[in-house]
Amino acid sequence: MIVLAIVIPVLAAAALIVLVAAYRRREVRSVTGRLSRRTRLRDRLARRAEPAAAAERPTGRDVERAAVLARRAPDDLPAVPEPDDDVPWTPPDDEAVGVTRRQFLNRSIVGFMGLSLTGLGAAILGFLWPPFVTGFGAVLNVGTVDSLKTQVQDEDGFLKLPEGRMWVTEYPEGALAKAREVYSPAVLRGMEAGLVALYWKCPHLGCTVPECVSSQWFECPCHGSKYNQVGEKRGGPAPRGMDHFATSVNDRGEFLVDTGKIIQGPPIGTNTTNQEAQGPHCIGEATE
Ligand code: FES
Repeated sequence: MIVLAIVIPVLAAAALIVLVAAYRRREVRSVTGRLSRRTRLRDRLARRAEPAAAAERPTGRDVERAAVLARRAPDDLPAVPEPDDDVPWTPPDDEAVGVTRRQFLNRSIVGFMGLSLTGLGAAILGFLWPPFVTGFGAVLNVGTVDSLKTQVQDEDGFLKLPEGRMWVTEYPEGALAKAREVYSPAVLRGMEAGLVALYWKCPHLGCTVPECVSSQWFECPCHGSKYNQVGEKRGGPAPRGMDHFATSVNDRGEFLVDTGKIIQGPPIGTNTTNQEAQGPHCIGEATE
């Protein structure tokens, strides 16, 4: 990807340079003129037939050199007469000083192609460049594992982090053996640090799932789905447990949650923690 990001703009720039050079050459030729092939052939044959006479004749290089010398010797140029104040000013002929239609078209085509190539290069770069995302959708550093555990306990077992649309809860160390049979490495990395990051959107029809402090479960008010404290489905119409975010812990012990990577919740029947409701439910009775 990085190679493409470099090669494509370089090719676009090279194509633009070739176009501009071709355009300039064409414009110069339109001013200086160009000998036809037949004339050049005739000159060559004449030089071969009479080499002595051809040697005396000035070559094209001699003519060019003479022209350059003439330009460098302004004393030889005819004096420009002083303008006569009495002569009324007449506007120059637009046709003579303006841009010819052909020049206008040529410049328009080159300009248009240059703009198109630049736009194409910018679009490709924009596509290949990693998007700069903050907030939900980005990898969030939500604090150190130790401070998060303290906050979870201070919040009666459920820490709500609106910037990541997530719930953070503790995962019991004793349940890790079962968890390793069910969860993906991206979820297990957080569990091994003692934490889970759950997407707060209900996997049934998308309501935001609140915590129920009395039962220590999550209980959805929309249709009554219930999930234990680590998001495993315990009742209601939801098709699976709550979805997780990919998690990791960095060298400084900070908990990183990738809110751009939503991992489907565990299937119905998963119950790695065996956590029963610890008090009255907030939403009706749990039904499968
Ligand atoms: S949206 Fe949560 S149970 Fe239906």
